[in-house]
Amino acid sequence: MDGAKKPSGKLVGAVGELEHGKSKKFTMKRAGRDLEALLVNFDGTHFAYLNRCPHTGITLDWVNNQFFSSDTRYLMCATHGAVFEPPTGECIWGPCVGLSLQRLPIEIADGQIYAKLPGAE
Ligand code: FES
Repeated sequence: MDGAKKPSGKLVGAVGELEHGKSKKFTMKRAGRDLEALLVNFDGTHFAYLNRCPHTGITLDWVNNQFFSSDTRYLMCATHGAVFEPPTGECIWGPCVGLSLQRLPIEIADGQIYAKLPGAE
């Protein structure tokens, strides 16, 4: 027994599963509803967000699981072309400039990635 604390979030992926510029969708349950979310690898670091644009609430991917711009520099809203910074979720161009995607804190333990959503069941 190493005394390590067991992560409390939902298991959503593994380190090494996604390369830079790749994403993976998952769901979190809150108030009886399944909420879609995305896990991304940006420059070797993982981030997770709700798949919901801060200005209309619609999902970002028009083609399933396509979140990155073609140069893999930004996350994008496929409907409006708005771009978001992958490490912060902040919209820096488009109709939601200054707003941010809702970030899900992640925790990595033993090579496994866990995400948390406040209020999730
Ligand atoms: S829905 Fe907000 S930028 Fe597209």
